[in-house]
Amino acid sequence: MKIGVFDSGLGGLTILKQLLKSLPKYDYVYYGDNARVPYGNRSPQVIYGFTKEAVDLLVNKNCSLIILACNTATATSLRKIQQDYLPNKYPGIRVLGVIRPIVELAAERGGRRIGVIGTKSTVATNAFVSELRKMTPNSIVFQQACPLLVPYIEDSMRNQKILDLLLKEYLDPLKKAKIDSLILGCTHYEIIKEIISAKLGKDVVLYSEGEAVAIKLRDYLLRHPEIENSLGKDAKVEYNFSDPDSDYKRLIKLFLDA
Ligand code: DGL
Repeated sequence: MKIGVFDSGLGGLTILKQLLKSLPKYDYVYYGDNARVPYGNRSPQVIYGFTKEAVDLLVNKNCSLIILACNTATATSLRKIQQDYLPNKYPGIRVLGVIRPIVELAAERGGRRIGVIGTKSTVATNAFVSELRKMTPNSIVFQQACPLLVPYIEDSMRNQKILDLLLKEYLDPLKKAKIDSLILGCTHYEIIKEIISAKLGKDVVLYSEGEAVAIKLRDYLLRHPEIENSLGKDAKVEYNFSDPDSDYKRLIKLFLDA
């Protein structure tokens, strides 16, 4: 059996990259729904439907453990997948998300004024706010939706001027709020992490999900030896995209190298 990694497009590759670094012996199947990216401006019902299809596809490719390497899918659909979809359709399959791991990491490291950037759909669920409230009740959370960043990133990131404008629009309110840390609450944003960091200044700590997901997955596998034992360990990686004719091959390299 394999570990499935799913995102609406290329962003989940930033999670896969860290998994390959920290847990290289396992077999992975990546699925990017690049024919329908971005998810972040769609309704929760539509995203749930897409997420169920991704789970079906990855189960059919022999994945017994699936990471929703997409905050938008995690925020809108993880609970429903775990509580409604899996018990009826795939009782032996486990699906995990990316929000809890990064929130735990941020809570452990202790920010006081925590910014969160994500897609419109992720921000609308308040998933980060409620998780942070549970894990670090004394912190103040400032959320900012960044609806144009995923389309910009998926479109090969060719125009620095546009990115500067977008980041000014999205980061200025967080600067005014005097955040001390920022959660990159969308797996695509990792690829522009250095640029975001330069705009916010060195006093703002940035948290990336890849590292957090890899740490928490390692713990999870230690706590669930029955799952760990069932996983193939030939270090194979397979990539699947719903629009395989797009420019994705060049971009895969860009994301995995980031
Ligand atoms: N990488 C996805 C996330 O983490 C992007 C969502 C989108 O397709 O808009 O939310």
